[in-house]
Amino acid sequence: MNASPEQPHAPRVVLGVSGGIAAYKACELLRRLTESGHRVTVVPTAAALHFVGEATWAALSGRPAATETWASVHEVPHVRIGQQADLVVVAPATADLMAKAAHGLADDLLTNTLLTARCPVVFAPAMHTEMWEHPATQENVATLRRRGAIVLEPAVGRLTGVDTGKGRLPEPSAIFEACRRVLARGTQERDLAGRHVVVSAGGTREPLDPVRFLGNRSSGKQGYALAATAAARGARVTLLSANAELPDPAGVDVVRVSTALQLREAALKAAVDADVVVMAAAVADFRPAEYATGKIKKVDGVEPAPVALVRNPDILAELSAHRARPGQLVVGFAAETDDVLAHGRAKLARKGCDLLVVNEVGDGLAFGLDTNAAVVLAADGAEVPVPHGPKEALADTVWDQVVTRLRAADAL
Ligand code: PMT
Repeated sequence: MNASPEQPHAPRVVLGVSGGIAAYKACELLRRLTESGHRVTVVPTAAALHFVGEATWAALSGRPAATETWASVHEVPHVRIGQQADLVVVAPATADLMAKAAHGLADDLLTNTLLTARCPVVFAPAMHTEMWEHPATQENVATLRRRGAIVLEPAVGRLTGVDTGKGRLPEPSAIFEACRRVLARGTQERDLAGRHVVVSAGGTREPLDPVRFLGNRSSGKQGYALAATAAARGARVTLLSANAELPDPAGVDVVRVSTALQLREAALKAAVDADVVVMAAAVADFRPAEYATGKIKKVDGVEPAPVALVRNPDILAELSAHRARPGQLVVGFAAETDDVLAHGRAKLARKGCDLLVVNEVGDGLAFGLDTNAAVVLAADGAEVPVPHGPKEALADTVWDQVVTRLRAADAL
């Protein structure tokens, strides 16, 4: 039975499934794709069928699973399925499947489909940590990314058996979201393919004692939107997440930090091989000079001592002054409450970054919302206003500006 509200002109999605235990999770992805109206053809490999049978794929997709290169040969399935697709997503993508794809092998229907597809291709890997980390797999992943495929970063957690580590299939909801974003970009180029971008998001917390901290109102939504849109444009993304309570965007390497000092350490480390660093996190300028190891107690009749503060390092200024590699682009954000543009221009000069995204914050503005408005100021004098709209739209404008400058630098 198929409850799909499939539309006749809905995007055609090929769901490739290779042989890993996480194949069962692809059923949930398939359900999400069909329930949102996509026309899905499932192409499981022979190994995948050991884990989930043909009947399940057929019932959930509402059409026969395409398993055989030699079935219905008059319809040339090994060419047609790939040619007609608007998106191919392979979930789970095993080390073996990605090795074949990277080397152009085509010994079954799925690998044939990958060779004939001219649409965006998303791989959602799942394997043991050792297999993921093996130089052969890493080189194959790099090859696929360089060619414009989107290879999501595997999630970290429990693997088959008792071991845990990096290699879990990202959550089906996150893979679905990544597919939705890629389809929304349509045939637009994966213009960040082959680039590594680092994005910070959320707000740092500076502890006073084990129960209290100095913090701010950042939810992380703007930074997460930057990370997710960069992934949809083909980038390898490292997201430095400061206290954000948001689901990990699929395909993004998430590094959790809490304080400004931890964020600095993580940012300097991730920036080493980054093409772009975007500091969207709200970083505390000051931290308590002392940390009380026990809860600070109130004493009746005694005025509390003032909290002494010390300055935190300015991470954005440091990244801008000491570029980890030639041509690296550094982007900052400025949260301002008044005289927004004047403060933004002064901040751009002071911090020394290439782009500064100035957004007004305050009651009912920017913090915690799904929408934002800003002006993107560039060190070369350009100013691009971005009207009020989804945080993803602002993120895409930032990436447009970044891509223009990366290409200009490549052309030199
Ligand atoms: O997270 P949301 O709820 O979606 O809200 C988004 C946002 C409003 C937090 C975001 O759009 C934003 O403006 N982020 C930057 C907030 C900020 O810290 O602005 P600032 O003007 O104080 O700092 C300027 C820049 O310097 C920022 O890039 C900041 O990351 C960086 N900085 C600041 C202080 C410091 N010690 N080190 C830094 O690197």
